[in-house]
Amino acid sequence: MKTLELKIEIGFCSVDELKEADRELVEAARQATANSYSPYSHFSVGAALRLSDGEIIIGANQENAAFPSGLCAERTAMFAAQAQCPSQSVVALAIAAKNNGVPTARPVAPCGACRQSLIEIEERYKRPMKVLLCGTEGVYIVNSVKDLLPLSFIGDSMIETL
Ligand code: THU
Repeated sequence: MKTLELKIEIGFCSVDELKEADRELVEAARQATANSYSPYSHFSVGAALRLSDGEIIIGANQENAAFPSGLCAERTAMFAAQAQCPSQSVVALAIAAKNNGVPTARPVAPCGACRQSLIEIEERYKRPMKVLLCGTEGVYIVNSVKDLLPLSFIGDSMIETL
């Protein structure tokens, strides 16, 4: 049996070490946690997307008494961006969270369903999206959603090649 080795590089630094545009995005994600509606989990997630024209679009998780009807912060931001600015690609995404009002120490990572939705955007615009996962301990810098979802299922996966 052969093995397939995947190399994924994830940067880790403090917010202060980020470039100004990324610092601004992290700050927007942190502030967006205030727009979370999370009376059930008390876990407030904020997301901020940077579009190719520089605009920032934010999102926050929106929960529902019927649990599956809620939506994660990342997808509220992404779907809002796609609905409002479909011609703009997405350059970067920052995610931050508070647990019972306290910012998480460890960088928060997107759930599997959000990763699948994020990779669709990378495929749609044919450009990698930088993902900044924020915690008070620091920020993980992921260069592409592909690094968060190796061996992903994308539109091309349905095209049969002989
Ligand atoms: N949540 C997000 O907003 N993003 C994620 O990637 C993980 C989970 C939300 C969903 C739910 O409102 C709460 O966090 C607890 O799972």
